[in-house]
This record gives sequence, C-alpha cells and structure tokens, in this order.
Amino acid sequence: MRKKLVAGNWKMNKTFLTANELIKELKGKLTKDDLEKVEVVICPPFTSIYSAKKLLEGSGLKLGAQNVFHKDEGAFTGEISAPMLKSFDCNYVIIGHSERRQIFNETNHLINLKVKNAVKNNLFVILCVGETIEQREEKIHKKIVDEQVTLCLRDLSKEDAGKNIIIAYEPVWAIGTGKTATPEQANEMHIGIRKSLENIFGKDIAEGIRILYGGSVNEKNSAEIFAKSDIDGGLIGGASLKSDNFTSIVKSAI
Ligand code: PGA
Repeated sequence: MRKKLVAGNWKMNKTFLTANELIKELKGKLTKDDLEKVEVVICPPFTSIYSAKKLLEGSGLKLGAQNVFHKDEGAFTGEISAPMLKSFDCNYVIIGHSERRQIFNETNHLINLKVKNAVKNNLFVILCVGETIEQREEKIHKKIVDEQVTLCLRDLSKEDAGKNIIIAYEPVWAIGTGKTATPEQANEMHIGIRKSLENIFGKDIAEGIRILYGGSVNEKNSAEIFAKSDIDGGLIGGASLKSDNFTSIVKSAI
C-alpha cells in the first residue's frame, strides 16, 4: 500500500552541463510505466534546479532539493527558501542529512524548524535520521534514532505528517563507505522508526509514512534491501550519479 520511492541525492556533484546530461539520460532510460510504479525524485544541486525543472517537464520524474532554510524570505545571506523551491516545481526536499548535521552543525532543533516551515509550504520532506558507528557500538542507536524522529517532527500535526513526511534511515557509518547495513539490520531499524512514528501520530498515520533506506545502496544490493517489509525505497548518493546504476536501482524497486 506504500508506493516505493527512490531518490537520488547528487550532493555537491555535477555542473550545469553535466547535470543536464544526466537528466537527459535518465529521461531516456526510465519509462512512463516505471515512473507510475515507483516514485522517483532527483535532488541536484541548487544551481541546476531551474534547468532540471525545464528538462523534467512532463517526464514523470520529480524534482527535489538537498536543503532549505526555515524562513520564507529575508536577510539570510546564502540561504534558499521553500517558496523559492516551490516556484521551480521543486516539491521535495531532503532535510537533516548527516552531512548537514556533522559538517554544518545542524541540530535536531534547527531541523525541526526547517521541517515545519517546509511542510507549511507544502513541500514533501525527506527527513534523514541515523546513528554513528560509535553510537551503534555503544548500543544506543535505537534511542538516538527515536530521539531524532521525535525531536525533528515535534509540533507537526497528524495530517501534515501523513501527507508530507518521508523518513530516510541512513546509518552514518554506511554513507559513502561501501558498508551497507544488512537488509535485516536496516529493516529492524525501520520497524523501530515506524513504532516511534506510531507513538507520535498513531498507527494509521505511521503505517502510511514511507521509510527509505540510505547508505551505499547500489544496483547489486538494492533488490534485497527493497524487498524487506518496512523498507519503502532508498535514498541513493554515489550510485545516483550514473544513469545506468540509478536506473537499475529504480527498476529493482518495481
Ligand atoms: P551513498 O549516500 O549512497 O553514497 O552512501 C547516501 C546519502 O548520503 O544519501
């Protein structure tokens, strides 16, 4: 009942021209039929959002951003707001990626402000959560992830959560390292996250929220990961930068 979603997080990769090439390739390889069965979102850098919007028109591929600020406008040098994204038909946004948390010191509190403002502007939010290797070794990973989910979604209404929230579980130790959580490890965490969602929003809402897995997903391991009961798709970094790899991953979700 939960439609699978595969999102490509391009991070700080691709110039204007190479981004356009990749989008054109993806349009050639993903059929309308594929895109009816799986929701596919690409998240290029901000500098390619406008050209992506133009190239994606009518394709069925959806457009997302990698970050957003928590105010709609004002004196916030260097930031991008939700209304700006909406004006490019960019309807999805990744919030709270571990690179933002670790490199740019984003806290659960700031992420909560961003989530609330994005939802107010009717963006679909891909909220990233996940533990570090130290936290897993200390066996506090479940508590950490529950805390991230609870704090980052604080004060959101049931209706908004049900309509606009997608979670991406991304263990920090699996991102860009080639180490994936086993499908069993990932599914266990997804079941825990769904329980946290149930505690906040109730069972009906929690059952409908999609929980993606991210962290070294590639065309070889994706099918097994996506087959698990509570894994509703993936957030793909490195493997989203090549059209063949990303296309194979999307098709493995069908
Ligand atoms: P990766 O990145 O697939 O390169 O591990 C995933 C992510 O950071 O979203």
